[in-house]
Amino acid sequence: MTIVKQTLITMLGTILVLNCSFSLKAAELTSDRETQLIHMVKQDCGSCHGMTLKGGLGPTLLPKAMNKLPLAAIKNTILFGRPGTAMPEWKSILTEQEALWISQQLQQGIESHDQSK
Ligand code: HEC
Repeated sequence: MTIVKQTLITMLGTILVLNCSFSLKAAELTSDRETQLIHMVKQDCGSCHGMTLKGGLGPTLLPKAMNKLPLAAIKNTILFGRPGTAMPEWKSILTEQEALWISQQLQQGIESHDQSK
């Protein structure tokens, strides 16, 4: 009985550890969806953060600023917004994976996408 319990606890632990490392794994999205998301960042996020993301009503989202923030913090700001500020939540239209991908793009610089086209 104790062996069964121990095995179960070990298994649970492994599942937890695996889940944690997967949640920050590079997101895999279709290239169509990636194009849509880049468009959305420029149009929708750009309406507050500036078309070139240099800042406007919202602060700059350029790599210089984004690299000072942990990836998970950017992702959570996108998903849940900043209550009490104009920053809205996007969790109704973005999955966690998509928000994470956008966060990675913001850290890398979204403009690099234009050059690859
Ligand atoms: C209606 C205006 C508005 C829109 C649209 C908007 N934001 Fe924001 N955003 C803000 C404001 C205002 C803040 C600053 C909140 C604060 O004072 O903490 C902010 C903060 C942020 C931050 C944190 C920046 C930092 O330096 O802490 C990130 C990241 C961010 N927004 C990403 C996005 C993304 C990505 C989108 C599009 C999916 C988006 N925002 C759309 C207004 C907006």
